[in-house]
Amino acid sequence: MFQPDLLQGKRILITGGGTGLGKGMARRFLELGATVYICGRRKEVLAETEAELRVATKAKIHSFPCDVRNLQAVEEMIETIWKDGGLDVVVNNAAGNFLARTEELSSGAFDAIIGIVLMGTINVTMACGRRWLKAQHPGVMLNIVASYASSGSAYVVPSAISKSGVVALTRSLAVEWGNRGIRMNAIAPGPIPTEGAFSRLLPRPELEQFARERNPMNRFGRVEELADLAAFLVSDGSAYINGEIVTMDGGEWLQGAGEFTALGRMLTEKEWQAMKPRKSPKE
Ligand code: HXC
Ligand code: NAP
Repeated sequence: MFQPDLLQGKRILITGGGTGLGKGMARRFLELGATVYICGRRKEVLAETEAELRVATKAKIHSFPCDVRNLQAVEEMIETIWKDGGLDVVVNNAAGNFLARTEELSSGAFDAIIGIVLMGTINVTMACGRRWLKAQHPGVMLNIVASYASSGSAYVVPSAISKSGVVALTRSLAVEWGNRGIRMNAIAPGPIPTEGAFSRLLPRPELEQFARERNPMNRFGRVEELADLAAFLVSDGSAYINGEIVTMDGGEWLQGAGEFTALGRMLTEKEWQAMKPRKSPKE
């Protein structure tokens, strides 16, 4: 899909890059010539991914245990990376989520998700953004949100609140920092099978079939599809795309919004035929 040197020379940080979509993006960016830094809370998971991707791609990858909720830890990680030469691209991908009835959530439950998704994104964005502005160094940020960031969603309210905050951050800074060389975009994915998301959000296996069927394309997204879109959005090929939220969900959120969409599955063939115009007597 791309020239093999599309990201040659780019230095990219992916938060939550040890697993799932973050790991998929890391792999793709490395294949396209980037040097990649990944972070997350679990040291062993990061080390395993680092070793696996280094062997698979023979490219430069480094990992840092870092909780993005902890501003001091973020500053220390970014300072260490900057001593090594700085970054060109940041992907805010780390997230936490669970399914729950909102009235049963504790204040700590809200804090946990808002802390990772919204404050974690702010912490990393500010640590890198300030350095880019000070050095007049161009930078690209890509935030991974979710298709429900604009619509909201029942049962994942702390995540929906946080993701919509990240959308506002993306659009606001795209304008505020755009004339100083910093580009901000986001991807809003629909469901893509990863252990982290599906173990928490689809508690029964048969719900996967239900989720597949409610998508207009009758399938889930693929990690590789997300990684290719991300590679384009962080590359110089998308240099004039700024402040955009690219939805990648097979059309799923639109089918939820369309007034008559559900009728398509409920009406019988006979009913569709009965609604066709009758031939006029002249014919
Ligand atoms: C209600 C819960 C809960 C649950 C935890 N809490 N799980 N409340 N229902 N299932 C509450 C706890 O009681 C506690 O509140 C607070 O949240 C913090 O819990 P901890 O276990 O201490 O949190 P922590 O160790 O920081 O772990 C964070 C986590 C965990 C979010 C709870 O699931 C995690 O580490 N997730 C990371 C990966 C992840 O979630 N990936 C999925 C991303 S998918 P109190 O009041 O007791 O202190 C995604 C979009 C998918 O984002 C969209 C698909 C279309
Ligand atoms: P995942 O594998 O669980 O990824 C989440 C990553 O974030 C993990 O590597 C986790 O590592 C890291 N993380 C969590 N809390 C952190 C913290 N406080 N500090 C640093 N890192 C932290 O799930 P995923 O499906 O790949 O999700 C990736 C992104 O895509 C998320 O933003 C998610 O909201 C979004 N998304 C996913 C889907 C989907 O269907 N998969 C759909 C829409 C949006 P540690 O636990 O080691 O910290």
